[in-house]
Amino acid sequence: MDPYKYRPSSAYDSPYWTTNAGGPVWNNDSSLTVGTRGPILLEDYHLVEKIANFTRERIPERVVHARGASAKGFFEVTHDITNLTCADFLRAPGVQTPVIVRFSTVIHERGSPETIRDPRGFAVKFYTREGNFDLVGNNFPVFFIRDGMKFPDVIHAFKPNPKSHIQEYWRVLDFLSHHPESMSTFGFLFDDVGVPQDYRHMEGFGVHAFTLINKAGKVNYVKFHWKPTCGVKCLLEEEAIRVGGSNHSHATKDLYDSIAAGNYPEWKLFIQIMDPDHEDRFDFDPLDDTKTWPEDILPLQPVGRLVLNKNIDNFFAENEQLAFNPALVVPGIYYSDDKMLQGRLFAYSDTQRHRLGPNYLQLPVNAPKCAHHNNHHDGFMNFMHRDEEVNYFPSRFDTVRHAERFPIPPVILKGRREKAVIAKENNFKQPGERYRSFAPDRQERFVCRWVEALSEPRVTHEIRSIWISYLSQADKSLGQKVASRLNVRPSF
Ligand code: HEM
Repeated sequence: MDPYKYRPSSAYDSPYWTTNAGGPVWNNDSSLTVGTRGPILLEDYHLVEKIANFTRERIPERVVHARGASAKGFFEVTHDITNLTCADFLRAPGVQTPVIVRFSTVIHERGSPETIRDPRGFAVKFYTREGNFDLVGNNFPVFFIRDGMKFPDVIHAFKPNPKSHIQEYWRVLDFLSHHPESMSTFGFLFDDVGVPQDYRHMEGFGVHAFTLINKAGKVNYVKFHWKPTCGVKCLLEEEAIRVGGSNHSHATKDLYDSIAAGNYPEWKLFIQIMDPDHEDRFDFDPLDDTKTWPEDILPLQPVGRLVLNKNIDNFFAENEQLAFNPALVVPGIYYSDDKMLQGRLFAYSDTQRHRLGPNYLQLPVNAPKCAHHNNHHDGFMNFMHRDEEVNYFPSRFDTVRHAERFPIPPVILKGRREKAVIAKENNFKQPGERYRSFAPDRQERFVCRWVEALSEPRVTHEIRSIWISYLSQADKSLGQKVASRLNVRPSF
């Protein structure tokens, strides 16, 4: 039996046409009129229902990541990490867990081209025996900003100008000129990986530090990495124009066709582990999402593989209604104090209650595949069948008890109330190292993309100078190259 398939309790397979209420429809071709042309009768219930359903077919698109494609498959553990986590789905090599994955672009609308320079979302929902675990990451290992307070602003800056509805980089470069921490993500956005070839040929990252906890309660910080077995491939400018010009859904099509042809996309999952006692050993804050962790000191350890071997049956039910949430973790995996992650913990369920309704977790694609039980019921579009009389807790008539206690980080939290920036900003070292790791032709493309963005007529001299200063602090020769091509004399 297909574990993903939603089977409504009433039969949905009548041999003849019906209304939503199941009444027979003897004519689905013509409206009921007075005479053969004549005014349409309001009593044509079937027509009214048909049109009314149609005019309500659209729901609000995601405020970010509106454009995306999803597919199903499984995650299989390949390496034992039970010394690090008591997560049930990671309990032994060979254990498989069903998943649904959604890839996306971030900024533009539901129908926008998939060749746009933009981060890509890489969100995985694991339907585990202990509830759903959502790893909601991107194809870059870092993010532009490090405090959720600024998320609406950075998205507004990247979204189309509210006046013209055109994306304009002077707005991006203006806002982010106040945020030198964005340099590290520009190291990916303006690199070749800023336009992946398609969804199969890109990496994925959890971005934030999360926490793993084992049975004994020992805590480690962890970063998650997905590596595609078919390698990373990107589209350079000319190719992107050609591919996007011929098919604005090329990445969705590539994913769908590959799976349909039995060429199943696969990623290996790796983790980096950091002992929280060692966090002061680094010249950056390990809970800062604008930073990567050095792989020579904290090597990638293999954990498992993700295989997408089944296409979705219905785009609306399994893409539009799909709802990911980084707050959905399972015992053995916990959040960290990364401020961006903390900001995200509230945002997703909040938007989904608005976008899909308060019972969005009852939708088949979002509902856990394990048994679940609570008294959060009713509300708009509740369709869960319940026949209990006791809907309060505790009760001597309801034998359902608390789940077994699982470990959460035991660290003692203390501190003043503060609105603060992190102490170790170190904004330029990693972007400089990344630029220097590029081959000369890749460096040249990176420089050209900066020059093009900074050449927008509405980028002021002041903003240009700030960026040249940031680029120079990352790498002196990079700053000099961009400055000389823009004809700007660096003021440092
Ligand atoms: C989607 C908010 C940071 C990755 C979304 C959505 C919202 C949101 C409202 C739409 C969800 C929906 O309608 O179902 C935020 C806020 C952030 C933040 C407030 C910062 C505080 C990030 C970061 C990443 C990320 C740092 C990458 C690690 C994603 C992905 C999706 C998404 C992949 C699409 C999920 C899907 O395919 O449905 N975000 N986000 N977000 N976000 Fe974030």
